[in-house]
Amino acid sequence: MLEISNLIKRYGRDEPVLKGLDLTVDGNSVVSIVGASGAGKSTMLRCINRLVEPTSGSIKLNGTELVTLRHGELRRARRKIGMVFQGFNLIDRLTVMENVLAGRLGYVNLFQAITRRYPASDIERAFVLMERVGIAHYANKRADELSGGERQRVGVVRALMQEPEVLLADEPTASLDPRTSEQIMVLLQSLASELSLPVLINIHNVAQARTYTDRIVGLRHGTMIFDGAPSDFDKDALEAIYGGIEAPEDEAAPPPEEVRDGQA
Ligand SMILES: Nc1ncnc2c1ncn2[C@@H]1O[C@H](COP(=O)(O)OP(=O)(O)O)[C@@H](O)[C@H]1O
Ligand SMILES: [Mg+2]
Repeated sequence: MLEISNLIKRYGRDEPVLKGLDLTVDGNSVVSIVGASGAGKSTMLRCINRLVEPTSGSIKLNGTELVTLRHGELRRARRKIGMVFQGFNLIDRLTVMENVLAGRLGYVNLFQAITRRYPASDIERAFVLMERVGIAHYANKRADELSGGERQRVGVVRALMQEPEVLLADEPTASLDPRTSEQIMVLLQSLASELSLPVLINIHNVAQARTYTDRIVGLRHGTMIFDGAPSDFDKDALEAIYGGIEAPEDEAAPPPEEVRDGQA
């Protein structure tokens, strides 16, 4: 379970970009975080894995306070936080297997890491997970030979190799075509329930948030202004979150009649 309370983040002396967030997410639920660009979505995820230092507040993962951890304790806690990125963050010249095994770096010792001598159990786990997401046959291919959707699957498996207790995904489908995006969303959704893993997904695409996640959290200027079921995320919620800021991909600004009815 992930419990965030009164999370505040201020960069330098500017106005806070997170203004006291409270959010509790239990196992196997998939929560989407929606909000216009600049609302604070990435900052929130980055506070959880401490890529960004929270200014104040509390973030507990299965009872462990993350905000005050330092050095070795922080390193150990970070293993439990899997992260999936918009740009995949793979090492292109390494193989799929090598990228996947990088998820074990927080566990193996320096010698094992440098000589790439991962325990057999890690390699076995890697194959099981790669098989699960349909990339096992690419194990020895270079990462840069894969398509975007395949690369993101590598990113997901690498995160799962950490044996995470929570999975954070920052716009994981924003670089993918719509169909591939949907496949990745379905994959994240089923992995969450198979592994009883809470999953937080920053996502720009409201339609996908509605279809593929269990709960929607809406941020505006660092404040949570919606937290509820996708079925309750109506036009008013959409307007409250994006109104006057920018149009999200598909819903806020439907195309004019002539386009919608056109032959496209
Ligand atoms: N490292 C940083 N230093 C200063 N300001 C930042 C930094 N990162 C993000 N911000 C600011 O914080 C606000 C929220 O950004 P971000 O969390 O990236 O929002 P989102 O992911 O919703 O687009 C923005 O105004 C952004 O400019
Ligand atoms: Mg962002």
